[in-house]
Amino acid sequence: MESTRGKIYITRRLPKEVTSRLQEVFDCKWWDHEDVPVPRELLLQEIKTADGLLSMVTDRIDSELLDAAPRLRAVSNMAVGYDNIQVEEAKKRNVIVCNTPDVLTETTADLTVALLLATSRRLEESAIFLKNDEWKSWSPFLLAGLDVHHKTLGIIGLGRIGQAVARRAFGFGMKVLYYNRHRRMAEEQSLGVEYRDLESLLRESDFVCVLTPLTADTYHLISERELSQMKPTAVLINTARGPVVDEVALYTALKNNQIWAAGLDVFDREPVRASHPLVHLPNVLALPHIGSATVDTRMAMANLAVDNLILALTGKEPKYRVC
Ligand code: GLV
Repeated sequence: MESTRGKIYITRRLPKEVTSRLQEVFDCKWWDHEDVPVPRELLLQEIKTADGLLSMVTDRIDSELLDAAPRLRAVSNMAVGYDNIQVEEAKKRNVIVCNTPDVLTETTADLTVALLLATSRRLEESAIFLKNDEWKSWSPFLLAGLDVHHKTLGIIGLGRIGQAVARRAFGFGMKVLYYNRHRRMAEEQSLGVEYRDLESLLRESDFVCVLTPLTADTYHLISERELSQMKPTAVLINTARGPVVDEVALYTALKNNQIWAAGLDVFDREPVRASHPLVHLPNVLALPHIGSATVDTRMAMANLAVDNLILALTGKEPKYRVC
């Protein structure tokens, strides 16, 4: 006999203690791999009978998928960003969309600061130098980098993560500027950050952190012109989304030493290959999208995604609803 319980599809293997919470309430199926996304064709097949979907940033939730999903009532994305989801299309079809903010804020801010320190103090280069047995002697300017303390940090996007990065920067005695679509007067007061228009922020900052969501307005927000406004000693950090920065323009700026270095956790198309031109530059530290990747935080995100899905499908208000 066909079960009357709702059906859930989960697009990646998650720890048992997470999936078992969903299995108590729903019939669940999942793509039983951790390292590779579910093939599109399979997802389009599975979504036909699903009432709820637990998705990852690697899944494209677009009108084609939504059209193939007559029963779908909720999509719970295990991420704070939801640029992989066509939210307006979901809204049109009364499909609830949820995300997982807050639980990853501090962890992602930590990684942003780690990239800032690692690029300015040339940690990757220094470690490789030693492992290659190239170290002959302490010498006056061996692998000399840039100071971070008491420098100026420019934050593009003063959301939750931007604010958490600002709090950390004050610990280094930095001056913190921000650019945001809407001015944030309350945070200017409570945190002591100063607003600048984008050009002024780029001209004044020693470090620029990109922490804005990817939208039609922020696509290639940092391109050739913006990079040319940065100091030659400036470092660009992107822990938001790759397409906010024009990668071709960034490559040129780094190659020509128009800016000093970049720390990148995100790319235009992920996964980037080791052969990607940016990955090869000595003044780039490239990471495989690990901003929120601690065991505690990924567990918290998975559990929050489950909470959201259960609440949405049982007629209650999810904890974090995008639409
Ligand atoms: C990861 O990139 C996220 O949006 O949570």
